[in-house]
Amino acid sequence: MKLINMFILLFTFSPIFTQEAKREIKITKKYLNIPIQSLQERQLMTFETGGKKVREFVIRLNKDRPDYWVFSDVSDLMGETLIITYPEKVKGLMEIYQSDHIASADSLYKETNRPQFHFTTIRGWNNDPNGLVYYNGEYHLFYQHNPYEIDWQNMHWGHAVSKDLIHWQELPDALYPDELGMMFSGSAVVDFNNTSGFQTGEEKPIIAAYTADRPERQVQCIAYSNDRGRTFNKYEDNPVIDSKEKWNSSDTRDPKIFWHVDSKKWVMVLFEKDGHSFYNSDDLKSWTYQSHIGGFWECPELFQLPVDGNKDNKKWVIYGASGTYMIGEFDGQKFKPETEKLNYLSGKMYAAQTYNNIPESGGRRIQIGWGQITHPGMPFNQMMTFPTELTLRTTRNGIRLFSEPIQEIEILHKKSYYLSNLSKDEANAKLKSLKGDLFHIKMKVKLLEKVEFRFMMYGNSIANYNFNHNLLNGTFYGGDQIENMTISLELLIDRTSVEIFADNGRFSIIESLPEQKNYNGFEFETERSDINIINLEVHELKTIW
Ligand code: FRU
Repeated sequence: MKLINMFILLFTFSPIFTQEAKREIKITKKYLNIPIQSLQERQLMTFETGGKKVREFVIRLNKDRPDYWVFSDVSDLMGETLIITYPEKVKGLMEIYQSDHIASADSLYKETNRPQFHFTTIRGWNNDPNGLVYYNGEYHLFYQHNPYEIDWQNMHWGHAVSKDLIHWQELPDALYPDELGMMFSGSAVVDFNNTSGFQTGEEKPIIAAYTADRPERQVQCIAYSNDRGRTFNKYEDNPVIDSKEKWNSSDTRDPKIFWHVDSKKWVMVLFEKDGHSFYNSDDLKSWTYQSHIGGFWECPELFQLPVDGNKDNKKWVIYGASGTYMIGEFDGQKFKPETEKLNYLSGKMYAAQTYNNIPESGGRRIQIGWGQITHPGMPFNQMMTFPTELTLRTTRNGIRLFSEPIQEIEILHKKSYYLSNLSKDEANAKLKSLKGDLFHIKMKVKLLEKVEFRFMMYGNSIANYNFNHNLLNGTFYGGDQIENMTISLELLIDRTSVEIFADNGRFSIIESLPEQKNYNGFEFETERSDINIINLEVHELKTIW
């Protein structure tokens, strides 16, 4: 290589020659708006005030035109002089600006591909729901959040609250990464008897248990809030569990904590290496290992439910992130399975969690999952699944878990059509004129001879069942509720996704909807044979935003 070429190479790639860039901003507004260009490399940005590092994350600042804007809420730094450091002096660094409004605030929640009745984050990426807990009239939804990009990174705990599980208000991020690592998944409880001693005022403390993640080490930590989840303090003696050496594994994460009534102890179910472990505590700070069950991966869940609504016959359900579950007994220390691994869902739901602390009177077990749905062209990515109520019911194969949309969906019904006892052609004549992209549809369909039907929306099959191969949208669903070739389906259609619940929640699927639409209304399709649409309910839905 010629000397001159070598010199150019060195000059271009050697860090010695790249100048770290700094910008100084006196914070007088709530937000810093930051431009992002997806094809740029992620680089480390730090925020410093008074010689102290206050934030650190990786980000793809733009070198030319930004693809979208994200923001950092800097209201806690008001009045301070902020020094932003980035490895290179790129265009995006100079374009960062402060404002009391986020960039494109005018179109917030009205964006073309923004789901209209599922929770999505204002900006950035979400995955798992975390810390689902009800307290004093509010349902809290914390979640895995990357505020700085529409891909997974920089895990924070995002936060939203709702009074009805339908309308959500996004609040500032609740947990920021720290020296122990990124804020990975976990759960939250209300410490009614102040067993932790964290209570300072009138409000009961909300305690969050989460995983702090560094390369090769995941430890369990707690944080507490004395102001209804608005702000959290991290416990000074974190971590409360560090079990890497015990398991010789760097997969120890996602603590699910709850109060176990019979043994009067706090229980933590923790994913460790190859399954779920059970720990006990009296004060949420010091935890003792009890037992372990293999065969589950990530995001543990464990709860008790009455069978067929009978309060004198309750069973426990345990699952991992994929949702495969077992039913059995749990005495506060050990889970004894009474079934093999079972399955109640398929498709793009992962890492679902259920609410702690829902008042006994209502007694519902409500679940929200991570909906792995993308929304093309949007400055945010992924969503939460629509809340469902979980129940245990006896089927001809034994007790099974059912998951159905919560009845509050009815709040969103706008215009409704009720039809019954129709042939395919009669139903199609009515369905032809439907327009829009927000629907709640219920149907009970009986096949008369041939084995498959498809329910089409704008020219695409969005739900189909093949009785011969037992395939619901191509996924095996044995249909232990099916009699007389009759299946019922409940559909939630929200712009970019469809959730399908078969046979009153016996099995569910969530999928992305195709972007391409040829506006033909809805219709049933079968090969040469007829079907009987026993009943069909179509509800157009209102937006929650
Ligand atoms: C599941 C998961 C969790 C982890 C989190 C990190 O989706 O991998 O196990 O805590 O996501 O974002």
